[in-house]
Amino acid sequence: MTTTELNQEKLEELMGQMVGNMTGGALCFSIWVGDELGLYGALAGGVPLSADEVATETRCHPRLVREWLDSQAAGGLIDYDDKSDSYTMSAESAAVLADDTSPTFVARAMAAFGAFFSDIDKVTAAYRGTGGLAWGEHHPRLFEGTEWFFRTGYRAELPNWLQGLDGVHDRLVAGAQVADIGCGHGASVVVMAENYPNSQITGFDSHRPSIDTARLRANEAGTSGNTHFEVAEAKSYSGTFDLICFFDCLHDMGDPVGIARYAREHLTDDGAVLLVEPFAVDGRAANLAGNPMAALLYTASATVCTPNSLSQEVGLGLGAQAGEGKLREVFEEAGYTRFRRIAETPLNLILEARA
Ligand SMILES: C[S@@+](CC[C@H](N)C(=O)[O-])C[C@H]1O[C@@H](n2cnc3c(N)ncnc32)[C@H](O)[C@@H]1O
Repeated sequence: MTTTELNQEKLEELMGQMVGNMTGGALCFSIWVGDELGLYGALAGGVPLSADEVATETRCHPRLVREWLDSQAAGGLIDYDDKSDSYTMSAESAAVLADDTSPTFVARAMAAFGAFFSDIDKVTAAYRGTGGLAWGEHHPRLFEGTEWFFRTGYRAELPNWLQGLDGVHDRLVAGAQVADIGCGHGASVVVMAENYPNSQITGFDSHRPSIDTARLRANEAGTSGNTHFEVAEAKSYSGTFDLICFFDCLHDMGDPVGIARYAREHLTDDGAVLLVEPFAVDGRAANLAGNPMAALLYTASATVCTPNSLSQEVGLGLGAQAGEGKLREVFEEAGYTRFRRIAETPLNLILEARA
């Protein structure tokens, strides 16, 4: 095709979109830098600060801080005042970028995108080879970025999801046994332990460094008394549980049907499975058109989730955008008789399965 055959209007529209994409990618990196160096923390008070004041407070090089501040102002994340030559962060911007206890905090999740870029050689080798790339083979920043990508949502929403499960809240208040399979850095374990001090929450994950970090997080949160952590595959843990949870991990696993079946065999009478999966609309075309998170989540799926699944036994490769219909099929095949959606967020589908 020659350039004369191109529709110029469409071409310009696409180039505009690409400028937006590249700007977003570059800003993700600078947001990560700002979080790492405490630059947002310095700005968060809402007081106008000069570049030198931000540099002094963060003990960073003033010339680089000036350049970084301009990137943030140009990106619309902070404000610049020409007269006073100072920078200000709005309360809304602080809630998204500075306050890591805020339900809208996203800055630290950028570490995951950093890992995508770092892992280019391993990821492209997987495309050219078997398709498999195990979770633990990625740059460690992926584990931290993933933790923070989901953690704020769990802190804000998980207590409501647990209330939405049929009869589970009362059992947890009284004291129940809970398993969190594929717990990663334990963000969900800590939330459950804080909300239900009479219950015992055990996090399992096949990735030892994640289990070590999860234990640390539970200690930091003061929940070591009712949390436990074990390195275990999703088809090898022992014990029976009133509640077995999968937070944003079942689709990462090679054998979701076998793993759901194994969970069914490890539930107490009338025990429940809480399945939290990335948000998706059923049907590929509907999801591509109607899910604003789809491009991001398919990219994560192609880079991390599906390669990990393909690296494991069975290697189903369910993908992070399976949607409720396919997830229901997994649980029906695993012998569950009840499966329902209890909630959704822009990021997650929250589902309950009962034997
Ligand atoms: C996307 S992370 C989610 C971590 C955590 N649940 C969260 O929401 O932050 C997926 C996790 O599943 C774990 N995982 C993957 N395959 C597994 C398997 N077969 N058995 C146990 N854990 C597994 C990985 O090690 C990783 O920690």
